[in-house]
Amino acid sequence: MCRTLSCALLGAECVTAEIASQLGIGVGETDRDGMFTLVEVECLGACDRGPVVMVNDAWHECQTAESVGSCSTACARTARSSSAGVTWP
Ligand code: FES
Repeated sequence: MCRTLSCALLGAECVTAEIASQLGIGVGETDRDGMFTLVEVECLGACDRGPVVMVNDAWHECQTAESVGSCSTACARTARSSSAGVTWP
């Protein structure tokens, strides 16, 4: 999760809080299954499309608490039912 200024001004803190809530972990922590680790990073280079969430190698731009909440739930469900890499719906 990008935490740098542009994303912060666009609501990154709320997005991070929602992801943390959905996964049941805090920033810097890994979930019980070892599937997800929530990390705040500096600018991902898409400042005009923030807040930006990066899952594996893919950016997900213009995230909101609402959009990221349903996505993280679906992402967790997919990841836990498959041995394939995690993708964001
Ligand atoms: S500030 Fe978040 S992508 Fe640049």
